[in-house]
Amino acid sequence: MPSDLKIAPSILSADFSRLGAEVEAVDNAGCDYIHIDVMDGHFVPNLTFGPPVIQCIRPCTKKIFDVHLMIDPAQPHLQSYADAGADIITVHVEADAHLDRSLQMIREMGKKAGVSLNPSTPETAIKNVIDKVDLILVMSVNPGFGGQSFIESQLEKIRRIRAMIGDHSIDLEVDGGVNTKTIKAVANAGANVVVAGSAVFKGDDYVKTIGDLRAAAGT
Ligand code: DX5
Ligand code: ZN
Repeated sequence: MPSDLKIAPSILSADFSRLGAEVEAVDNAGCDYIHIDVMDGHFVPNLTFGPPVIQCIRPCTKKIFDVHLMIDPAQPHLQSYADAGADIITVHVEADAHLDRSLQMIREMGKKAGVSLNPSTPETAIKNVIDKVDLILVMSVNPGFGGQSFIESQLEKIRRIRAMIGDHSIDLEVDGGVNTKTIKAVANAGANVVVAGSAVFKGDDYVKTIGDLRAAAGT
């Protein structure tokens, strides 16, 4: 198990009416990344926000902005997300016919490039771009909504991707249904970054909810 498990609260479960304060609160509570779920109502059946909102919350924290684009197409919008303050930009393999080019574009913008796989997508889909990614994001729910149950079949996939990564310097992030009951299995399977939306924001005390996650993971 990686000893430095990073926690990335998803602001999808935050109170949008006070988003800046929510970002500051999870920063102060000791999170590692801020996970930002961008949805377009087309690639996924839900709609969230875009670059202007990200730009608004950028001054609230110095933590890494981990921007998860659930949009199709993503390529025409990459520069907008880079300009808004993203540090990591993750695109979905299922939404991009020219994935190799998108990843190259993200790196040329000086950002970390991520690729995400839906639960039904096999890891072979990213085999040919492994040298172009800084982060692999395994969806452990079907993307679109917070608060769903973890899909157990993804644990084996996480293990296989950890083996694929080998000595490459690539973050392996898992997103969806991660809570105090599932986090240990996720970390044991080889993830070194976990997204947690409802598990962090469900309570009022984010020091406690993030602490509970770290304790449950055993890190
Ligand atoms: C789902 C999003 C996730 C989601 C996680 O489409 O990508 O980041 O917010 O929420 P929880 O942790 O509640 O499953
Ligand atoms: Zn996400």
